[in-house]
Amino acid sequence: MLRNGNNACSPSPIFAAMKRIAVFTSGGDAPGMNAHIRAVERVGEKRGLEVVGILGGYSGMIAGHFEVLDRVRTASIVERGGTVLKTSRSAEFTTVEGRAKAAQQLKDHGIDGVVACGGDGTFHGAHFLSQEHGINIVGTPGTIDNDLWGTDFTIGYDTAINTAASAIDRIRDTADSHGRLFFIEVMGRHAGFIAMDVGVACGAEFIAVPETMTDVELLYQRIVAQGLDKRTIVIVGEGDELGGALKISKLMESRFGVSSKVSILGHMQRGGSPTVRDRVLAARLGAAAVDALLEGITGVMIGEQNQEIAYVPLHETWERRKTVPTYLNDLVSLLV
Ligand code: F6P
Repeated sequence: MLRNGNNACSPSPIFAAMKRIAVFTSGGDAPGMNAHIRAVERVGEKRGLEVVGILGGYSGMIAGHFEVLDRVRTASIVERGGTVLKTSRSAEFTTVEGRAKAAQQLKDHGIDGVVACGGDGTFHGAHFLSQEHGINIVGTPGTIDNDLWGTDFTIGYDTAINTAASAIDRIRDTADSHGRLFFIEVMGRHAGFIAMDVGVACGAEFIAVPETMTDVELLYQRIVAQGLDKRTIVIVGEGDELGGALKISKLMESRFGVSSKVSILGHMQRGGSPTVRDRVLAARLGAAAVDALLEGITGVMIGEQNQEIAYVPLHETWERRKTVPTYLNDLVSLLV
């Protein structure tokens, strides 16, 4: 991890000439991305920069879809979910040719520095742009999964867990009323952060996550202990090695004759107005990203660790694995 003051991040005179920066969102949208875009625009303007929005993530960068942002364009977006700049998962950008086109567009549009908001796919792309084409670029963590090493939280995570928790509370009402077993699947492709937090918050009887092998015998014992005619809530992280809530439900039926209901929360977890926590994190990281570019910092993610801004080399964010905090694992073993 690099922090302010580290030699590897020392300013270069070239950046004194920085005039025009760009911001874009990429990969899965996350609540708070609009607050982030707004902050980059406002802080950029305060620092005397022109701020350009790239529409549609890396696809829009390749196609040259650029738009100058101003206070009017970024007004009244702070409370909105999704991303006003739109987003994409670009297959073309994964090719050398695609990235060359994107870099050329940045040069043609006179972009001196870029803020890339997204998850690990976005950061891989930003890393390549920096390495292959010398683009000055910093990443900011925008994903509901919270699975990026080097930042305590990602933009969108707090909103997503609150959205998931309120949906689960509603399902619990019907599970309670009927005395039913529910398998509820939450997002989190490779990581169980969402599952663990909402599992604790919603009083789940069992939590299945991608990080650990799910013991079906133990799961069955828990269900029996709870009472087959009683409300039982099992939270399943979508990346669980058994294949998600539907597969686990079918497995419990075929192996133990236990019937259940399945609810896959899906993309509703990504939508909605961001929480205050997400808006503030998004704004703080946006402001820090602009200042980092001005200081000549490039090729890093701007994260937050123990309430301090941290600069983390982009490749470390995916090479090092962020694990669910110990206190959460402990809580789960005490409460679930
Ligand atoms: O990147 C966050 C995420 O919501 C994951 O939790 C999920 O697996 C994935 O995106 C879904 O992506 P898409 O919307 O492209 O299907």
